[in-house]
Amino acid sequence: MNKKNNYYFESADTVKLAEKYGTPLYILSEDIIMKNINNLKRVFINKYKNVQVLYASKAFMSIAMAQIIKREDLGIDVVSGGELYTAIQAEFNPDKIYFHGNNKTFEEIEMAIDYGVGTIVVDNLNELDMIIGIVTAKNIKQKILIRLSPGLTEIDTHEYIITGQRDTKFGFQIDQHLKSSVIAKILNEDSLILSGFHYHIGSQLFDNESYLKAFKIIFELVEWLLSNHDYAIDTLNIGGGFGIPYEEGIKPLDIGKVLEEIMVEIERSFSNIPMDRPRIIIEPGRWIVGPAGITVYKIGSIKTIEHLRTYAAIDGGMSDNIRPSLYGAVYSADVANKYNQAKDHFYTIAGKACESGDILLKDIKLPVLDSGDYLVVHSTGAYNFSMASNYNRMLIPAVVLVKDGKDQVIVKRQTYQDIIGRDIKLMEEK
Ligand code: LLP
Repeated sequence: MNKKNNYYFESADTVKLAEKYGTPLYILSEDIIMKNINNLKRVFINKYKNVQVLYASKAFMSIAMAQIIKREDLGIDVVSGGELYTAIQAEFNPDKIYFHGNNKTFEEIEMAIDYGVGTIVVDNLNELDMIIGIVTAKNIKQKILIRLSPGLTEIDTHEYIITGQRDTKFGFQIDQHLKSSVIAKILNEDSLILSGFHYHIGSQLFDNESYLKAFKIIFELVEWLLSNHDYAIDTLNIGGGFGIPYEEGIKPLDIGKVLEEIMVEIERSFSNIPMDRPRIIIEPGRWIVGPAGITVYKIGSIKTIEHLRTYAAIDGGMSDNIRPSLYGAVYSADVANKYNQAKDHFYTIAGKACESGDILLKDIKLPVLDSGDYLVVHSTGAYNFSMASNYNRMLIPAVVLVKDGKDQVIVKRQTYQDIIGRDIKLMEEK
């Protein structure tokens, strides 16, 4: 949608917002978040019995975001004390919090148990022992899922965001040790309730081949547990990872179709064994919030190297979006104040960090740029703010939430005072 020459993000004039709040600026559209959540309600939550969606809060977390997820009655996945604390501060029902992570500390586990977190997803033996120690001392029962590594050999996404292969730091391998000691120990432990299994195969996936392959492997374990221990799990969490298009021209994932194919396979498999189909959980992060975010920057210096390339530099970069330098991620962009002009010039958009690799977009077509133009980078809602850093002591931008044409700051821009806020001066020598 656009009026005059400005780029409108849903009903928000991005130039106006940039002028009002300054740049760089993260803009998050509650309308798009809602569209995505409502879509999940239609194709999953309301379509199947006994299913649940958890929002993977690592994609974008703030108190306001947790409040939206709470209001929409989804559960939430947290992976650290910080994410957990944020959810609790948003008054999230602890019962709907799932606590993941491959190296939860004793303090984090105790904090989760004290808050009454519904389910802890146990990743390894050390953690298991810590949980048993804490719940036994407190004389309570804790629901757990066991995180499994399905050991897939090929997963079609960036190697840094694959998690379901054999060589991974996440979860238990499915082997004799798991069966004879880990599971046996859990089943013998009065303080633990084994709710079921969890696995997550990777992120930014576009087809369901890996989901189906992983399910097959996990299902064998479910069957084994039923026949060897007469134990039927009540929950199976199949992870997140649903991909979104970042570049123009890429078709969005038909999540309804992907989920339907997965659910058909799951229903079919469980109909063949003497137990009820457990509750199926998915935990999308990027898919809910990625397309709901954009980042607006101001163009500063423009440098042309004759017969080679023109660099246009923005007032942010890898400190607010590490994904291009970390994963080679590709984004699309527009000039917010020249939205109707032809994109007929090549530019490379450079960040302002002291790092040659701080290139946000390489050789993209834009209208002729002038210093002072506003650049909008699309689909930055997931893993941009949440992975932001203070490299070069750059300030982390504000996050503005827009809904029905109204805007509200949900995370304040950092200040220089924030930057030095935890610094302590040297002790004076006497
Ligand atoms: N559940 C578990 C256990 C996960 O490890 C993840 C992501 C998710 C759910 C959510 O995945 P999603 O639906 O958002 O793809 N920083 C990387 C992504 C790392 C994802 C890690 N785990 C990126 O910027 O692409």
